[in-house]
Amino acid sequence: MTDQKVSGFSTRQLHVGTSAAPATPRALPIHLTAGFTFDSFEQGVAHFGEGTGYGYTRIGNPTIDAVEAKLADLEGGTRALLVGSGQAAVSTAILALAGAGDHIVSSTHIYEGSRGLFLDLLPRLGISITFVDDIANIDAWRAAITENTKVLFGESISNAANLLFDVSAVAALGRECGIPLVVDNTFATPYLFRPLEHGAALSVHSASKFLSGHGSVIGGVIVDGGTFDASLHAARFAHLVAPSRLGGASFAEKYGADTFTGYAKESVAPRLGPTISPLNAFLIAQGAETLSLRVREHSRQALALARYLADHPAVESVDYVGLAGHPNHALAQELLPRGYGSVFSFTLRGGRDAAAHVVNNVQTFTHMTHLGDVRSLVLHPESTSHAFRTPQEREEVGVHPGTLRVSVGLEEIDDLIADLDRVL
Ligand SMILES: Cc1ncc(COP(=O)(O)O)c(C=O)c1O
Repeated sequence: MTDQKVSGFSTRQLHVGTSAAPATPRALPIHLTAGFTFDSFEQGVAHFGEGTGYGYTRIGNPTIDAVEAKLADLEGGTRALLVGSGQAAVSTAILALAGAGDHIVSSTHIYEGSRGLFLDLLPRLGISITFVDDIANIDAWRAAITENTKVLFGESISNAANLLFDVSAVAALGRECGIPLVVDNTFATPYLFRPLEHGAALSVHSASKFLSGHGSVIGGVIVDGGTFDASLHAARFAHLVAPSRLGGASFAEKYGADTFTGYAKESVAPRLGPTISPLNAFLIAQGAETLSLRVREHSRQALALARYLADHPAVESVDYVGLAGHPNHALAQELLPRGYGSVFSFTLRGGRDAAAHVVNNVQTFTHMTHLGDVRSLVLHPESTSHAFRTPQEREEVGVHPGTLRVSVGLEEIDDLIADLDRVL
């Protein structure tokens, strides 16, 4: 404590009242700090030499670590890396695996931001991409793989057609070829589906969506299944099995089953810097505490709304995997016993004008580009999220001029139906 009698005003305003009494709060403490003090010279040496303790939040922070442990556990993985956005989770995961001269294979049915990363940015870094349209066709995945392929990528439930990704089949192909499967599990959440239990090597999420759940935070997470042994595939993942720059242990030797996230955490995220704020990490953890309650209710509400829409004369089709008519419904019954999620699309007979009328006149639904909020949201993909695809590309993923996407929230279902009933 700085002494008032001997220290000046400026010194006291900086040093007095910056350490709280030790106590054990029941809620997760928010360590909102750029860095941590070293108690001794030796502690600083150990931190930099062996990675013990905490030094700087970009490298490690107790709040962020606690949230990583929670999300790794919920996802059924061994280790997690929390970053500043879902987009950062996807790019960090890919860059942990692939570099210049490499190739990745991805489902066509993915979030536009991931698609933009794969189409526009990764090729500039020397990473090429092949898309698979018919994701249920395992031969199409096999045919896309080359000797330089480092990643297979897909979304467990896709936007906009609500297609289910057969994770087990593509993961098995990946294991056969020594290529990790990365699954974006944002729409399903670990409450409904856990890709790592079906053989995926890594799963990623936009934590901005259901994990945090209240539309107040941006974040992302990578979770390692702890099942992909990079040392068995040394030729494909030389950067993980080669000795360190100074001749020390390789990442595979250091991190064993968690080599991907160990490398991403030590060598990719701290270098590229997509660090999440400890405050946002806390908000994600707080949201995750009610994940099961929210997602169960979201799914129940979405099913009721999808059934209502399927019977409405103004509606041409409803793409919800929970409806018996959806092409993946049988698989969904097997893979998603707890519910089918909150997000789906439906197409109006009246085309773009009818869709514009709906978004301009709904009152309980909010017109915005987001999903996984406790509030119900609506968006017209053709003119917004999918505006940068060609008409043919849009048709292929189920986005038509009259298509609207909804993320069904937790308002009373009667109010949601009444809101749409009034405007349809
Ligand atoms: C499936 C999916 N993955 C990744 C992202 C990117 O996440 P963020 O917006 O948190 O960067 C989104 C965002 O909408 C998404 O829907």
